[in-house]
Amino acid sequence: MTSKPQTHVVIVSSPGVGHLVCDLELGNRLVADHNVHVTFFVVVESNSSAGESDLIQSARTQKLLDIIELPPVDISDKVEPNSPIFTRLTTIMRETNPILRSAISSLNPSPTALFVDIFGTPALDVADEFHMLKYVFVTSALPLALILYVPVLDKEVEGEYVVQKEPLRLPGCMPVRPADVVDPLLNRTKLEYRVFLQVGLEMRQSDGVLVNTWEDLDTTTLKAMREQEGYGSLAVYAVGPLVRPVKPSGLKCKLLDWLDEQPVESVIYISFGSAGVLSAQQITELAWGLELSRKSFIWVLRPPIKDKGGNALDYLPDGFLERTHNLGLVVTQWAPQSEILGHKSIGGFLSHCGWNSSLESILNGVPMIAWPLYAEQKMNATMLAEELGVAVRPKIAPTKGIVGREEIEMMVRKVMGDQEGMAMRARVKELKDSGEKACAEGGSSFNALTQLVKQCEMNLQRQKVK
Ligand SMILES: *[C@@H]1O[C@H](CO)[C@@H](O)[C@H](O)[C@H]1NC(C)=O
Ligand SMILES: *[C@@H]1O[C@H](CO)[C@@H](O)[C@H](O)[C@H]1NC(C)=O
Ligand SMILES: *[C@@H]1O[C@H](CO)[C@@H](O)[C@H](O)[C@H]1NC(C)=O
Repeated sequence: MTSKPQTHVVIVSSPGVGHLVCDLELGNRLVADHNVHVTFFVVVESNSSAGESDLIQSARTQKLLDIIELPPVDISDKVEPNSPIFTRLTTIMRETNPILRSAISSLNPSPTALFVDIFGTPALDVADEFHMLKYVFVTSALPLALILYVPVLDKEVEGEYVVQKEPLRLPGCMPVRPADVVDPLLNRTKLEYRVFLQVGLEMRQSDGVLVNTWEDLDTTTLKAMREQEGYGSLAVYAVGPLVRPVKPSGLKCKLLDWLDEQPVESVIYISFGSAGVLSAQQITELAWGLELSRKSFIWVLRPPIKDKGGNALDYLPDGFLERTHNLGLVVTQWAPQSEILGHKSIGGFLSHCGWNSSLESILNGVPMIAWPLYAEQKMNATMLAEELGVAVRPKIAPTKGIVGREEIEMMVRKVMGDQEGMAMRARVKELKDSGEKACAEGGSSFNALTQLVKQCEMNLQRQKVK
């Protein structure tokens, strides 16, 4: 009996650890669940982080993917050193095309499809040369809708988006408040805006987009992109949640030991991600808010921006640590977030709303206080609070001003247990279950990948004809 030839696809992962995590998981699923052969190209920056090499190393030991690192390219004569992210990363990807082209031409058997992440759309040109199908993999649905729709907004909206009186209308989706737009849309005269627009246009030329979400999580937005006009009539595949499986690490640390001793769902975890910092005044208010709430906490605290490298503890109110020593822990080093969020004693998460963290929270059934620190996180916060009902958020955007201690106290109490809080908890647990079902055999995300792989198989026939 001869088995049918294995479908071979290429994933190209742009620089940055966040994308790498998701791109690797996509590759792993294609191999493990759908018997696809995946060549995985990693594009690195010359100053890439240790996190990236660790991830690549551990993926290599898993042996599911053929991982090939592409050498860093020099873009110093193309863009300013401090260029914003879309400008910088798409330039890197464009300049990597010759290397990618020759790397793909030497693959055997020839791959039938190319997958890139959001910064990788310049590489789609290379796919055309090899008659490969081309797909873009993005982290979440609403920003995808926005980026696909920007070419329309660009024609229809006059003047800056941020000064519009009315929310930006995306057909079928939650309207985007001018104050919530992603960074590249903040100023239409800038290069970053034109690059973002270009990415939207390039994406519209693809054979489809994959989104790291699932049908139940983003029902409205997915439906809108599929059925409404203006999004480019692309095939949209919801294939998530693709997250790194948390392996019981057996990690022993003071934090986890302490958590073991706390009652179920009694502790709120507070972290603003690896880069997130608060102002000195906001640290004070948060400390008072926590203390007033009388709820247990783990707080990953970093010094304020103006004192990078300083001692974060200096910014706590006098006597805070003494008064709360039975209540919680303040951590100034790295904390094992996945283990913490997965711990049964955690009942809430005060989060900066990075998509990664938000997914992690949902997949552990933990409701949130949504505390966005950057523009692109504001849409996450809105979606978590208003569309999904799994988060509370402060009345004033933390990017715009100081959230006061009384409001913090109130939000902590809410998320940790009042009636509204219980409803959020029930809702987030439902979502957790539906996410697990989506990825299991026969679930919506599993089936979406099956469909996709079928397209890739069929393309092999077409390539042979050409
Ligand atoms: C996303 O989560 C992974 C762990 O699952 C972490 O290593 C990575 O740094 C996170 N990315 C971002 C952008 O926070
Ligand atoms: C956009 O940037 C230009 C200069 O690059 C500046 O003059 C203008 O005020 C900015 N507009 C907004 C809305 O920030
Ligand atoms: C959520 O925030 C992340 C940055 O942490 C961003 O990349 C992503 O596009 C945001 N998603 C939504 C739905 O706004």
